[in-house]
Amino acid sequence: LNNGLVRTPPMGWLAWERYRCNTNCAQFPDDCIGEKLFMRMADRLVSDGWRDVGYEYVNIDDCWPSRERDANGRLVGNSTRFPSGIKALADYVHSKGLKLGIYSDCGKLTCGGYIASGGNEKIDAETFAAWGVDMLKYDGCYSNETSRKVNYPLMGAELNKTGRPIVYSCSWPAYEGGLPPKVNYTELNAICNLWRNYGDIQDSWDDVVDIMNWWGDNQDVLIPAAGPGGWNDPDMLIGGDYTLSLDQTKTQFGMWAMLAAPLFMSNDLSKLEPDIKTVLQNRDVIAVNQDVLGVQGRRFIKQDSIQVFSKPLDKGEFAVAAFSTRTDGTPHAIKFSLNDLKISGAKFYSLFDLFESKHLGKYSTAEELDIYVDPNGISMFRASPISVENIFVEE
Ligand code: DGJ
Repeated sequence: LNNGLVRTPPMGWLAWERYRCNTNCAQFPDDCIGEKLFMRMADRLVSDGWRDVGYEYVNIDDCWPSRERDANGRLVGNSTRFPSGIKALADYVHSKGLKLGIYSDCGKLTCGGYIASGGNEKIDAETFAAWGVDMLKYDGCYSNETSRKVNYPLMGAELNKTGRPIVYSCSWPAYEGGLPPKVNYTELNAICNLWRNYGDIQDSWDDVVDIMNWWGDNQDVLIPAAGPGGWNDPDMLIGGDYTLSLDQTKTQFGMWAMLAAPLFMSNDLSKLEPDIKTVLQNRDVIAVNQDVLGVQGRRFIKQDSIQVFSKPLDKGEFAVAAFSTRTDGTPHAIKFSLNDLKISGAKFYSLFDLFESKHLGKYSTAEELDIYVDPNGISMFRASPISVENIFVEE
């Protein structure tokens, strides 16, 4: 969507995967869906350096509204869990230099059974804008193919009419199976800033692998669909939640960067292991995700349970990632040349390993690289073109 927003993929934190619809504040005062949780995460985004590396949005998901609209027909936050109201929460988040995202649904109810925006698009868009909301995730429960065709564009138009810049995240394609002919990506890109193409991620490595496979298998549809202002969304980062190992966390994070995906963590920022935090704050990997060209990476090799992707970057550079789904307990070698990844433009490239932070040397595009990938891990590097005159000069 060409509204000037998210020219690079949005980054932030989103409640759903980790916190779901926990409304039990008596038993879980710090973790229930309420203003305390979002204020706590906003605080951590600032104090732990997340904002400084680009994580900007604090996003509410399902289960935030009260059971009834107010006397004027407006949505209101649940008064026990959001006693200060959503406007006050937005003010708080803004005071920290962050942005607030909210959630609704194009049906009459959200997936969690809370009141939603179907039929109330205008008043709800105006309410979100009046609160100072910066992003809307628009879900698709209690809708059908016909109502979605009307309601997704309608909410987009109403958001636009408010005059407030609000990033519009549509779950629409995920409800149509994610592929043409049911999904028209050209039309979608004219309406939404990002869109969930595929099923929900759970706290599971199998889901991460399933999503990466689906993105690779359908890349000819997905790559041309995305670019500055409109992004395919493979769903949240789950590193730092309960199940992923450190290597698996690197793999998901590195691959989401390669896929120019929105980077929304869903975890408890106050309980992250230092190693996990280091991974998710890796500026070199984030720079791949945030590259101004906004081109989604392409898979060129899939063999021996290792997949190799490359992503064109600005100024003739490329990012390359090889990830493994192997379980045979030791690093596995994969041989390929830059030519195999259609990397061209220069004869020689200097390679820099993004997770190890070290130079790998200079290679011609025809030369065979011998890359080792850990089981469930990733090797990721940036390839920078070097001119022939400089080829023998040490860095
Ligand atoms: C389905 C969405 O895909 C999830 O990300 C989450 O928003 C839930 N609905 C909330 O009910």
